[in-house]
Amino acid sequence: MKVKVAKEAGYCYGVERALKLAQEAVGKLPEPICTLGPIIHNPQVVDWLKGKGIVSVDSLNQIDKGTIIIRSHGVDPKVKIEAKKKGLEIIDATCPFVKKAQHCARKLIEEGYNLVIVGERNHPEVIGIFAYAGGKAVVVENVKDIKQLSNFKKVGIVVQTTQPIENLKKVINALIPKTEEIKIFNTICDATVKRQIAARNLAQDADLMLVVGGKNSANTSRLTQICAEVNPKTYHIETASEIKKEWFKGVNFVGITAGASTPNWIIDNVAKVVKKL
Ligand code: F3S
Repeated sequence: MKVKVAKEAGYCYGVERALKLAQEAVGKLPEPICTLGPIIHNPQVVDWLKGKGIVSVDSLNQIDKGTIIIRSHGVDPKVKIEAKKKGLEIIDATCPFVKKAQHCARKLIEEGYNLVIVGERNHPEVIGIFAYAGGKAVVVENVKDIKQLSNFKKVGIVVQTTQPIENLKKVINALIPKTEEIKIFNTICDATVKRQIAARNLAQDADLMLVVGGKNSANTSRLTQICAEVNPKTYHIETASEIKKEWFKGVNFVGITAGASTPNWIIDNVAKVVKKL
């Protein structure tokens, strides 16, 4: 069986940086060391960090002392103010690409644009960008949401960093007839674009595609969606234990890709198990 891992797959810059900052805090910064929400959307990595003494809390109410790590998705700026008030040590691991989206959103509001955030309404990154814009924004997930909007004089757009470029293009096209002026900050990050292109290319060539990553990871789910569009034999798995032998009947070439929050050891293990089939 031929097995190929996509050219761009697994940890992105922002995730590597967040994990490095978290690990460096151990033994240096006050304990307990907590992340506000799982540091990345990968349960296996979250468990591994737990072993090192870094635990995930859902809100600041659960921590009165020690260190709080803000994950790569970023947060509402009020959270940082609140953490400071509580006297917590803060590690801000917000990915610089997410920071850029937050600042662009604020800038567009200051310039008088009606802000449209293209992304998943309930994703923490989008919630953070929305908060940076002072809540003065409309979140649209896709072109269907645009139909419900009224006309604007001028529209400013920022995008969740992991959105597919095709969705952004469709949303822009649908907004054009509704406004006189559009200013777009394409805040989709490079890592996302590269992973999506590499995944699509490999899925086109492979007989079967495995997408490895947390079931709660938005960017992994999107990779699955992209691969499934060109290869119906696409499976989203978290670890090698989910692989089913019957998927591989008549399959000679397996492609593997992985979300930006999937560590190499999980990807390597999937490749190893498939090779043995
Ligand atoms: Fe940052 Fe892009 Fe990764 S926004 S966290 S480098 S997917």
